[in-house]
Amino acid sequence: MLVSVTFGKTFGQQLPRIYKAPEFDVEWRQPTNHPDRIVLSYGEDPSTTASVTWRTSSEIDTAYAEIAIATAAPKFWRNASTIKAVTTTFDALEINEAEVLANYHSVWFPDLKSGTTYAYRVGDGKRWSEWIQFKTAPMESKDRFSFLYVGDTQNFILELWSRLIRESYKKAPDARFIVHAGDLVNNAHNEQQWQEWFDAGGWIHGTIGAFPIPGNHEYRNLTPEASERSLSLQWKHQFTLPDNGPEGLEETAYFMDYQNMRIIGLNSNVDHQKQAKWVEKLLSETDKDWKIVTFHHPLFSASDGRDNKEWRELMKPIFDKYEVDLVLQGHDHSYARGRVSPNENVLDGVNMRDKTGTVYVVSVSGGKMYGLRKNAWEGYEAQRDRAAENTQLFQVITIENDKLSFESYTAVGELYDAFDLIKKAGQPNEFVGRDNEAIAERRFSNTIPYQDPLPEGAEESLLSRYPGYEVNGVRFVNDNEFIGYKVRLDKEGERKELSLDVNGKILE
Ligand SMILES: [Fe+2]
Ligand SMILES: [Fe+2]
Repeated sequence: MLVSVTFGKTFGQQLPRIYKAPEFDVEWRQPTNHPDRIVLSYGEDPSTTASVTWRTSSEIDTAYAEIAIATAAPKFWRNASTIKAVTTTFDALEINEAEVLANYHSVWFPDLKSGTTYAYRVGDGKRWSEWIQFKTAPMESKDRFSFLYVGDTQNFILELWSRLIRESYKKAPDARFIVHAGDLVNNAHNEQQWQEWFDAGGWIHGTIGAFPIPGNHEYRNLTPEASERSLSLQWKHQFTLPDNGPEGLEETAYFMDYQNMRIIGLNSNVDHQKQAKWVEKLLSETDKDWKIVTFHHPLFSASDGRDNKEWRELMKPIFDKYEVDLVLQGHDHSYARGRVSPNENVLDGVNMRDKTGTVYVVSVSGGKMYGLRKNAWEGYEAQRDRAAENTQLFQVITIENDKLSFESYTAVGELYDAFDLIKKAGQPNEFVGRDNEAIAERRFSNTIPYQDPLPEGAEESLLSRYPGYEVNGVRFVNDNEFIGYKVRLDKEGERKELSLDVNGKILE
């Protein structure tokens, strides 16, 4: 982390290492005549329907997918069928940060056989992708299956989300789909960031179905003058999702019934009332054993200064009433997992030991990290059981009949958090904590510093000069204009931006 510099008056002094972020040529993200950004999703019934979407240059205006039941014999394609794609032109040449013209192609595979491994490829009739395999859900609803869930990807996507998503594939290669709980990119319409997202996941995106819902970072103004934020222009072109959401929210709110589970994705950015009615209907009418809801803005925030009160007061009573088992969220760039008491709105210490209402999780998968809120969830009618800072995580959720196992893993594959939920007829879920299997809790204080470290004694002298402030956002800068530290001090909404020299002395 520390590196010696050997020039000027800083000779021999230990200065923080400066990270060289990658730069990308514009060509790097340009579409070609060959299919790229291939992404699989399932339909509302994943035992019979799946979709694939891909991108080419705008020259390719006719495209196809071929699909066959996969066999070990290489010429399984003799049994393939060919389906013409729906092609849409994505013209964002005039949009800042997008600046691209491409065609997207999508196909719904209808009438698939359940529990079957298929191989598909996509192309224009001459240029084809490789054959990519996936499996439909079985009809037998009690069979064991797993899926993955990741929080915000958003920052350092190619650099750091790549290792996370690849590790998740190693841990759960048979996972059937991946829940992306919003903030897949930082700047909604930014073409380079979407390219990073597709590159980081590579062929995993075409192999394991994507279940993405948008976060606040998928909404940005199209122009600096625009008064409203717009959904990422790429979103509807590049994902083909169940078209079963509320009117006006198609493909940003939708649901899927996977075996004995109903999973509902909500768009927490917009139209809350409409979605409250919609989710209540979906929860009330399903006879599935397991009910899981995912959206971006958490009901119980993991980080300081964040509270989605209106959203929580709207949704929590519905989740309580219909006994939602698990809620998967993002937004806070840290990890927090906890639960509410069963069948009531206040905590009951006796019940909480082994019975539980809805379990709530916030997680983060990309490289940007925030601090945890200081008071956990006190005053929020919920109990936070486990938390992390400064840790990239992915989650493997396994359902087998009446048991749900939740496991959270770090980017290097260590088990960070685990619990089981057991369904009991007519009773709240039994909660089985598995903290004893997990590694020690991680915080900024016991991990590699996220911010650049200040010289010894500098923090103390800053705080004695500015009592009550907290030192945030320390950044070591070494360019043609400045060598030293840029520091942000925060105190209850007040903020100071300071510059320090290499020795930590405040520059006036
Ligand atoms: Fe985020
Ligand atoms: Fe967010």
